[in-house]
Amino acid sequence: MPNSKKKEPSSASKLIKGLEGVVAAQTSLSDVDGENGRLLFRGIPIGELVEKSHFEEVAYLLWYGKLPTGPELETFKDTLKAQRTLSKEAMAILKLLPTTTHPMSALRTMCSLMGSLDPRAHIVNPEESQRKAYHLTGVFPTIIAAFFRLRSGKEPVVPDMNLSHAANFLYMLNGEKPTPEMEKALDAYLILLADHGLNASTFAARVTTGTLSNLYSAVTSAVGTLSGELHGAANQYAMEMVLEIGSADRAEAYVNKLLDEKKKVMGFGHRIYKTRDPRAEAFREIAKDLCVKAGKTSWLEIAGVVEKVMMDRKKIPCNVDFFSAPVLYVLGFPPDFFTTVFAASRVAGWSAHIIEQQLDNRLIRPLAEYVGPQDAYYIPAEDRK
Ligand SMILES: CC(C)(COP(=O)(O)OP(=O)(O)OC[C@H]1O[C@@H](n2cnc3c(N)ncnc32)[C@H](O)[C@@H]1OP(=O)(O)O)[C@@H](O)C(=O)NCCC(=O)NCCS
Repeated sequence: MPNSKKKEPSSASKLIKGLEGVVAAQTSLSDVDGENGRLLFRGIPIGELVEKSHFEEVAYLLWYGKLPTGPELETFKDTLKAQRTLSKEAMAILKLLPTTTHPMSALRTMCSLMGSLDPRAHIVNPEESQRKAYHLTGVFPTIIAAFFRLRSGKEPVVPDMNLSHAANFLYMLNGEKPTPEMEKALDAYLILLADHGLNASTFAARVTTGTLSNLYSAVTSAVGTLSGELHGAANQYAMEMVLEIGSADRAEAYVNKLLDEKKKVMGFGHRIYKTRDPRAEAFREIAKDLCVKAGKTSWLEIAGVVEKVMMDRKKIPCNVDFFSAPVLYVLGFPPDFFTTVFAASRVAGWSAHIIEQQLDNRLIRPLAEYVGPQDAYYIPAEDRK
């Protein structure tokens, strides 16, 4: 029997599971202040951006490090709009995907496809990455909305170049122009989710970029990473939970049962924010307004009970996914599309991180502590038992 001799790691290479508390990059994009429950984009509080800005301006802020002047913003918006149309080849491939494909798998596949259709995909430098960032940020809503419509047996809607990024997204999804409240709600969501320090999907994008791979590969890695339920898919499961609960009088027993069974309640908890998620707070009123206007107050009542039980029993506050779930649902997205909307926002942050990584790159290559056998030997096939 081979020996299992465990080597002591040196203090410099101590195992930290989940890399919790480990600083693995420097960034000037967003400051995630878990202690005080604050989030800043380039120094500006997220609540101020939701109130006064819009997604296009926030993407500019993340990419260029400052708020744009009027002409800079107009050029930025036009460049982004120019990417809205999905090419004939890409649309043909999207139509080939089985309707059973999870929307996040469809988005990951199409993101990778964008790389194979771009003859300059392999060129890796910050300028080229910036061009590709416009492309993916501009086209993601078109891919998502087109896949939704195809899956529902409807024709994709041609983008409207007169609408904002958020309004056009809803227009392509629902086939009709959104109300100002709907546009504001989606725009707020897109702002709030645009960046968030070194979260798992951003880390994946930076690891891929660190090898000098291109932006399409890095964003494809990020989309795949976002699709897990401990990260981006929590919004889908949070909504499915609210729908399954059905009415406020069933909520307390439902959550208690989950907690008794030591299960996670989706849309609660955060690795960094332990007191409050500022994104959830910034979204709470928007969610309330939209649900009330849509006559979906029962969801708010359910949410209120779930939140109370989580605070009373676990002292765990809700995260951004909890209140964004009913908002996305009212806007017309089915729950399994929620994470794609998250990706349509976070692609701005991923792109900014990719460029930041390229400007000061070092291959990201941590160590693994080997805990397997040391003294094994090869046994010929005929002697194996
Ligand atoms: C986000 C998350 C992965 C962060 O987790 P983390 O920092 O690794 O914390 P842990 O998973 O170790 O949880 C610490 C404790 O809180 C509990 N906890 C954390 N989130 C919980 C949740 N959503 N529901 C119930 N209990 C939860 C854990 O069970 C654990 O309790 P214990 O110490 O009694 O075992 C975790 O809160 C989670 O799984 N949340 C649900 C998924 C979600 O909403 N993700 C979106 C994040 S924006």
